[in-house]
Amino acid sequence: MTALETLGQIPRLDLRGFASPVQLLERFSQEIGVEVWCKRDDIGTVGLAGNKVRKLEVELAYALANGATHLVAEGSRLSNATRAVAAASAALGLKCTLLLCHDAPNEPVGNLMLDGLFGADMRFVGDISWHELGQRAESLVSELEQAGEKVYRLPIGCASERSCLGFALAYGELRQQMSQQGRTARTIVHASSSGGTHAGLVLGNALHGFESEIRGIVVAEDVYSDVVGTYLSFAQGGARLLGAQVALTRDHINITEDYLGEGYGLPLAGVYEAIDLLASKEGVVVDPIYSGKAVAAIVDLASKNELKGPVVFWHTGGYHAVFDPSYAKRIWSSIGRLATVTL
Ligand SMILES: Cc1ncc(COP(=O)(O)O)c(C=O)c1O
Repeated sequence: MTALETLGQIPRLDLRGFASPVQLLERFSQEIGVEVWCKRDDIGTVGLAGNKVRKLEVELAYALANGATHLVAEGSRLSNATRAVAAASAALGLKCTLLLCHDAPNEPVGNLMLDGLFGADMRFVGDISWHELGQRAESLVSELEQAGEKVYRLPIGCASERSCLGFALAYGELRQQMSQQGRTARTIVHASSSGGTHAGLVLGNALHGFESEIRGIVVAEDVYSDVVGTYLSFAQGGARLLGAQVALTRDHINITEDYLGEGYGLPLAGVYEAIDLLASKEGVVVDPIYSGKAVAAIVDLASKNELKGPVVFWHTGGYHAVFDPSYAKRIWSSIGRLATVTL
C-alpha cells in the first residue's frame, strides 16, 4: 500500500459531515491583483468549526479506540482549540475538563461561554507559563485517573504528529476540489501557531509531489523554543505513522513572523483593513487574532509581487472573535465609512 493509500485509511471520525467548500474570491482577487481562493474551514458542524476539528477527527478516533472516557485540554481562556475539544466531547458523549490560563473573566464571553455551554468543566489557573500549565495538566490527568476515568490529554492547540494527518488529508481534499475547477494551488497561506495545520499541509503537499508552496503566517510568539524544529517533528512523525518515505527537512517549513504585529491577539498594521476588504468584497469574516493576520499577509505580499497565484487562503476559523467587545469596537472604529453612523 502506498503512503497516500494508508493516509486514506487512517481511523478518522467524521465530525464535519462534508468537505468544506473552496470558493474563488473574485472581487478580492481583482482588488489585490492575484487570483485568490478560500478554503472554508470556518464552515462546519461541530462547535462553530475551525481548523481544530480536522485534527480532532484523527486524534479522537485514536482516543476512542483506546477507551477514552474523559478528554483533558489546556490553553488560554479564549482558546479555539479548547472550545473545539469541549464541542467534540459533547458530540461524542465524553466528559471534558479544560485547564485554562488567566483568571475567570467577569463576563462569560466568546469561547469561554461556549466551553461552558458544551458542558466542559473549566479550571482557571491564573497567569502561568505554558510549561507550568503542562505540569498542572499532568497532575489533573492523575487526579482524574485516580477517580476512575480513562483520560486522553490533547496537546496545546491539538497539535501532534497524529493530528497533523487530518491536515495531510485536507491537502488532498483541496487538491481535488481545485482540480475540478481546472486549477492547482501554487501557494497556500494560513494562520499558524501550534503548528499542526502547517505540518499537515506540508506533509500532504509532500505526498502529492510538492505542487504547492505552503506559507504559515505566525500569529503567536514563543509557542515553542524551536518553532521550525517542532513543526518539522510533527510532519516527520506523521510521515512515520504512514510509513511514508518522504525526506522532510527544516527547509520545508515555510513560516514568517512578519505579520505577528505587536503579538498574539494584538494589533498588526493593516489587519483591520484586510478584515474590512474581505468582508465588504466577499461577505467572508475573519478575526484579528488568527485568520485576519493571514489575509493581511496576502494583501501585503500581493502588493510586493511576492505571491504566486492561484493562491488559496485557508480560512482556519475563529471568526466569532469579532463579537468580543474589545475587537468589535476596534473593527468598527477602523472602518472609515462607519464613522458617520451613530450608535
Ligand atoms: C482560528 C485559528 N486559526 C489558526 C490557528 C493556528 O493553527 P495551528 O495551531 O494548527 O498552527 C488556530 C490555533 O489556535 C486557530 O484557532
